[in-house]
Amino acid sequence: MRHQLTWKSSGILLLGLALSGAACSDDDDDTENTGDVPTDASELFTFLSADNYRSFAAETEVHSPNGNSPHKDVRVFVNSILEDSLKAGNSEHPVGSASVKELYEADKTTLMGWAVMVKTNAQSNGGQGWYWYEIFSTTDGSNPDFDGNGLVACIGCHATGGTDFFRTPYPLE
Ligand code: HEC
Repeated sequence: MRHQLTWKSSGILLLGLALSGAACSDDDDDTENTGDVPTDASELFTFLSADNYRSFAAETEVHSPNGNSPHKDVRVFVNSILEDSLKAGNSEHPVGSASVKELYEADKTTLMGWAVMVKTNAQSNGGQGWYWYEIFSTTDGSNPDFDGNGLVACIGCHATGGTDFFRTPYPLE
């Protein structure tokens, strides 16, 4: 009898350990994918071609562009820093906020490149505080079409109609 009781209590102890283990891995999930989108063009291309952004929060499917977007058929991903900030309704997103936009052919299945924005400064300062990148290749990262902070080709449109240069409607659809 005494022996059985011991077994029972060690079972409860093990259950407790298993539960605290599960709680730990939940915490890990929360901190993953934050501030981790590179702003060096060649590191960023490696990051993109390894599909590292695919675990980010995303629109459910590839869709036609909204409004006056030049980006063709697209699917937008946001990292957890940006997602938390969007959720909080912030008017300025924190450093490390990042969005990756997959660019598709009109068939909605052939990936042809990416557009990326990463917040590098606490203040957006007219778009200077965001790093902008765009490439129309999925195999050769040596010649991105756009790469740098405050690019005129990007900030004109992004300054209007969104929140702190982010234009996709939130919650993501
Ligand atoms: C003619 C206007 C226009 C220009 C120029 C433009 N964008 Fe966009 N962009 C949009 C719109 C509108 C969206 C919203 C989603 C869509 O495409 O349907 C968007 C979405 C994005 C997104 C997804 C996050 C978000 O803001 O919604 C990224 C990343 C992005 N653009 C990067 C760029 C980069 C990099 C450049 C410059 C090379 C650029 N864009 C130039 C209009 C523009």
